[in-house]
Amino acid sequence: MPERLSQVRAREAPEADGMPDPERLLRKSLRGFAPYKPGTTVDEVRRTYGIAHPIKLSQNENPLGTSPRALAALHDVDALSIYFEDDHRAIKTRLAARYGLAAENVILGHGSNELVQLVFTAFVDPGDEVVIPKPSFGLFKKDADIFGARAVEVPLADGVLDLPAMLRASGPRTKLVFVCDPNNPTGTRVERAAFERFAAALPPDALLVIDQAYREFMDPAGTEGVDILARRPSTLVLRTASKIWGLAAVRFGYGYTSPQIATWMNSVRLPFNVGRPAAVAVLAALDDDEFIARSIDNNERGKAYLSGEFARLGLHAYPSAANFIAVEVPIEADAAYRALLERGIIVRSGGGLGMPRRLRVSIGLPDENAAFIAALEALLPAWRSAPADIGAVG
Ligand SMILES: Cc1ncc(COP(=O)(O)O)c(C=O)c1O
Repeated sequence: MPERLSQVRAREAPEADGMPDPERLLRKSLRGFAPYKPGTTVDEVRRTYGIAHPIKLSQNENPLGTSPRALAALHDVDALSIYFEDDHRAIKTRLAARYGLAAENVILGHGSNELVQLVFTAFVDPGDEVVIPKPSFGLFKKDADIFGARAVEVPLADGVLDLPAMLRASGPRTKLVFVCDPNNPTGTRVERAAFERFAAALPPDALLVIDQAYREFMDPAGTEGVDILARRPSTLVLRTASKIWGLAAVRFGYGYTSPQIATWMNSVRLPFNVGRPAAVAVLAALDDDEFIARSIDNNERGKAYLSGEFARLGLHAYPSAANFIAVEVPIEADAAYRALLERGIIVRSGGGLGMPRRLRVSIGLPDENAAFIAALEALLPAWRSAPADIGAVG
């Protein structure tokens, strides 16, 4: 069971006398709430296992690093003593033009995570229904819990979003419907025609939120969220600078939606939520076609290699449309994750992600992928001879 917020103790001041009863102070909707836990960091592995160079394949980051154009632009960032413009007209215009839209169709956030939160802030009252696939990106459920919404979770079918079941779960009380395409943590995508039928059949008052953080890694036949927006105005398509441009640390997310929805969301956000360094880096990365092509190429090769190796090792993996793969292991995911950690390979256990027998592995550089496969292959015989529900051996 994940630790509830009311049980989480202050880390720096463990014995703070006179602290109020969390059941009285915390908002009711937060009492059973489990805070988001980011994956294990490289530093933690260095400290705990004394491994100088751990390999991190756990947060779906860009293994090639950051767009060189963005890095060069960041190097020259100036005027940091001055609040940067709040409207970001130039960058919105550029992002909009890629899809023949206007600046008014674009909303910017401190990472696309902030945009998910803004959607709840602007549109969700306590008790409102929110339809969420399960498993999917944990933030959707987390924000539903924070805002006291009723999360209607719809299980995936064979690792893929079950759109007919999500449609059946959506009704007059539904405020938001989340589609993550490709889906985190399974990496799968939905068929374009099925997605379009689903979007057309949803109640028009529900806001369809399409998270396409990994869209650039998907094959062109996949759904372009913006095409759905063109036919269904109550739609928000979320994209991010964190993955394809390698800008996770600057925090920049963007969304395409109808001008009215963008206006409502903008009216509840913090001022200056996107800083000058993020804006400068994104404006430069946008045109870095060479880096984007290299990133996609590395991803495709790595995906083909890993998929082939999983097949050779007899491990089932969901077909991935993203920059990570969810692979099945013969023991509990948490135990498999720990065994790999001891060998300096950081992956994400599916244990906390709704996939108790799978690891989510980001596609890395060729030598990182090979090191992961070597460690996995060395561990497999012990895992296969371990009793079904106990931890890893070795
Ligand atoms: C589905 C999904 N959406 C969004 C993000 C990233 O959000 P941000 O733009 O805040 O970095 C991630 C990152 O892991 C993700 O998996």
